[in-house]
Amino acid sequence: MKTINPYDLSLNPLHILEKRWAVLVAGDKKPNPMTVAWGGFGTLWQRPVVTVYVRPTRFTHKLLVSRDEFTLNFLPAKFRKALNICGTLSGRDCDKWERSGLSPKRSTKVAVPGVFEAELTFECRTIARFPMKPKDFLDTAIEEFYPEKDYHTVFIGEVLRVFGEEVLYQAKP
Ligand SMILES: Cc1cc2nc3c(=O)[nH]c(=O)nc-3n(C[C@H](O)[C@H](O)[C@H](O)COP(=O)(O)O)c2cc1C
Repeated sequence: MKTINPYDLSLNPLHILEKRWAVLVAGDKKPNPMTVAWGGFGTLWQRPVVTVYVRPTRFTHKLLVSRDEFTLNFLPAKFRKALNICGTLSGRDCDKWERSGLSPKRSTKVAVPGVFEAELTFECRTIARFPMKPKDFLDTAIEEFYPEKDYHTVFIGEVLRVFGEEVLYQAKP
């Protein structure tokens, strides 16, 4: 495990999020792990960024708003069950670290921990957040994702550090 220059990453952003899922951790005093599959990687305002989309109904949403930091963690396939637990139970009702068997791991650039079992972790500082507005949806089919009208909030995080298995993610020269 080592620090990786985000510009050297060779991951497939569609595959890694939609197929493998990730654990988003928010909150510093009582951090909470939540599974996400929607998000993105890119550049914005001349910085490398990670974007996540979180519904206001999630406990994690409150934590993301109260502290402008988060980590995004990718785990080996054998932790799929743990990801299912973090994606169905709420930190409002239980300690998801205990229930999933995952452990928090101290970060270096943010106060929010990463996940010890992760093979790739992004430490991020939220530099912008804004709610999705249904009036901005140009494709009417999108509205079908919101029967409860709990439109996602977009959280844009500047990548402060990437930490992981070099062999898995660093581009070959
Ligand atoms: C595979 C998977 C992907 C998910 N992706 C997201 C997501 O991108 N955004 C979101 O708001 N919820 C997503 N969820 C739902 C939350 O993980 C789930 O509601 C969770 O229980 C919320 O936890 P919390 O209340 O502790 O924050 C996903 C769930 C699963 C199983």
